[in-house]
Amino acid sequence: MEQKKHGFSSKVGVVLAAAGSAVGLGNIWKFPYVTGENGGGAFLIVYLICVLMFGLPLLMTEFVIGKKAGKSAYGAFRELSGTNRWQWLSWCCIITVYLIMGFYFVVTGWCTNYLYEAIMGSYAGLDADGMMAHFQSTVSSAPRMIGVGIIPILLTAGVLWFGVNEGIERLSKVLMPLLLLMMLLMAGRVLMLDGSSEGMRFMFQIDFSKITPEVVMMAAGQCFFSLSVGVGMLITYGAYMPNSQNVTMTSLQVIVLDTMVAVLAGIIIFPAVFAFGFNPAEGPELVFVVLPAVLQKMSFAWLSGVLFFLLLFVAALTSTISLMEVAVASLCEVSRHRLSRHQSVLIVTAIVTVLMVACVLSETLFAGSDMLVTQILMPLGALGMSLFVGWYMPIKKKDLMPQGQTPLKRRLRPVLMFSLRWIVPIAILLIFLNGLGVFDAVRG
Ligand code: TRP
Repeated sequence: MEQKKHGFSSKVGVVLAAAGSAVGLGNIWKFPYVTGENGGGAFLIVYLICVLMFGLPLLMTEFVIGKKAGKSAYGAFRELSGTNRWQWLSWCCIITVYLIMGFYFVVTGWCTNYLYEAIMGSYAGLDADGMMAHFQSTVSSAPRMIGVGIIPILLTAGVLWFGVNEGIERLSKVLMPLLLLMMLLMAGRVLMLDGSSEGMRFMFQIDFSKITPEVVMMAAGQCFFSLSVGVGMLITYGAYMPNSQNVTMTSLQVIVLDTMVAVLAGIIIFPAVFAFGFNPAEGPELVFVVLPAVLQKMSFAWLSGVLFFLLLFVAALTSTISLMEVAVASLCEVSRHRLSRHQSVLIVTAIVTVLMVACVLSETLFAGSDMLVTQILMPLGALGMSLFVGWYMPIKKKDLMPQGQTPLKRRLRPVLMFSLRWIVPIAILLIFLNGLGVFDAVRG
């Protein structure tokens, strides 16, 4: 349990770090474009169901595993099971984390680029078509994209090197509410645009005929990604938790905050999409063409643009810090601490830089690693963890809530265990089988 010594200073610290990890490009970049590609309201409702059905139990599971083992994803399963039989799960987590970093840093690079452009006023005055052309010409310059991608890698590595995590925690205590406030203002502005109501209809009107197996699969993948579950990252955070921390409340807080930011991003993007005549199913570039257009309509346009992209950049950084932390912590453990933390930071930085450059140069690799991660590796990790806790190492009542008993609390553990034993694994298996096309064959 020696890791507890380096634990967070306060309970708020864990919540903030976990929320900082969860809230990131997944909410503001990925959620709107995936929603746009998968039918709007139909996707949203399936997503919300996934958050309750998968997200909440898995978040609690990872925290409990970490809290009990006091180890990171690499050592936790061995510590708790006393065997090597679950080591595949640790490796699955570690590989996933590297793959995520490859494409995540590319998109963080896009943010860096737009932050710079917001400061310089480069996109000022462009109309919808102009924004699109501008985005395309920007990302097609590989040297530039590599340059802007390296900046967040170095910043993230710097935070891990100097161990200023606590400073980041304190910073995000201020910046996270500011990001929410800024997004509320933007939503307010967007809703005053002509034609914005169509966007609200797109986002909130549920057309049940649009709920296809494909939509369910995308929603589940997005849920894992946005909440940062299924890669053992929260195991590491659980290991840092004070014993008295209430896992249930912490998980609920993270989920509510994360979902709020995602939905708010949708409320900004879709009304603007329809008001400006963009296509909601545009793909990964959606947010980066729509948001600058929205920001130009704000009062104090320059300041709003700079502030927003700065907040987005920081939100992305708190996520990359959490990702790289997993990679560094596990590299130290894999090398049996023959590598120091500083050496591990250097090695991980080098590997991640190569992955980022590869994702810049190959669009197939960029889209492919995203797909592989959200559709296969994260669900696989989640499946492994639900089976581990559901069948191998059942959760005890005191793991969830340290003190007190109420009827609600008493019912919580059985419900959680039932969902980890049956609901989560079966649902993930169905999603997998569907991905393999098994049901297409049945349907003929
Ligand atoms: N959840 C973050 C987002 O929405 C991305 C992220 C950070 C992540 N750490 C993670 C995803 C760990 C999976 C695993 O942007």
